Amino acid sequence: MKILVTGGNGLVGSHFVGNYSDVLSPTVNELDITDKSSLDHFFSEHQPEVIIHFAAFTDVTTAEDQRNNRNAPCWIVNVEGTANLIRTINYQPYFIYISTDVVFSGKKENPGPYSEDDSSEENLNSLSWYGWTKKEAEKLVMNNLKNAAILRISNPSRAEYASKLDYIHKILKLYDTGKLYPMFNDQYLTLTYINEVTETLIFSLPIN
Ligand SMILES: NC(=O)c1ccc[n+]([C@@H]2O[C@H](COP(=O)([O-])OP(=O)(O)OC[C@H]3O[C@@H](n4cnc5c(N)ncnc54)[C@H](OP(=O)(O)O)[C@@H]3O)[C@@H](O)[C@H]2O)c1
Repeated sequence: MKILVTGGNGLVGSHFVGNYSDVLSPTVNELDITDKSSLDHFFSEHQPEVIIHFAAFTDVTTAEDQRNNRNAPCWIVNVEGTANLIRTINYQPYFIYISTDVVFSGKKENPGPYSEDDSSEENLNSLSWYGWTKKEAEKLVMNNLKNAAILRISNPSRAEYASKLDYIHKILKLYDTGKLYPMFNDQYLTLTYINEVTETLIFSLPIN
């Protein structure tokens, strides 16, 4: 079974790619989801039965500077890139979209915890711009693909240091370099263990 992973070079996708053999994991140069000709070229050669779509613009702070700007990378990669990918697929692969807890506001009025049946936030003012673009991409996936699932993760973390720092190691690095404080003391976070993302994905593959 052919599995395509987008974003296989990233913090979370790289763990899946490293632990599952036989995965197509093109670099951005080989498959750029913002470039329709790149998508056409890739899918003319490959028709993977499973697509796990990790690729995203994930810099939440920079994304905030792009708020409401549909010509800026966060919207273009997360929403248009996902739309391009969906449009290019003219068959029905099993499609897994990797998303985030920040499609929910987490605000006092509706603090969670959320169930998978809860609707994502529809008020732009209650979400980060990054969260909004991920929520828009989730809708594209669910409205256009018959055989799709969404896996929402939150502050993905791993036990060991990797080239891309996870949530825990970012904090440890800030501490080591004396830059951790001032820090918030009024938030409760749930961490997602990256190994378990990989395990869950493998378990959900149609061969199991
Ligand atoms: N990290 C978090 O805190 C967090 C939390 C919740 C959910 N998520 C979600 O989990 C998924 C993976 O996150 P991550 O932390 O592993 O992200 P990451 O480390 O920032 O990796 C993003 C990946 O997307 C690729 N990419 C970016 N633009 C692309 C394009 N135009 N075409 C093809 N690929 C492109 C990047 O390629 P290059 O490396 O070559 O640029 C990279 O491999 C994302 O969907 C993210 O929204 C992450």
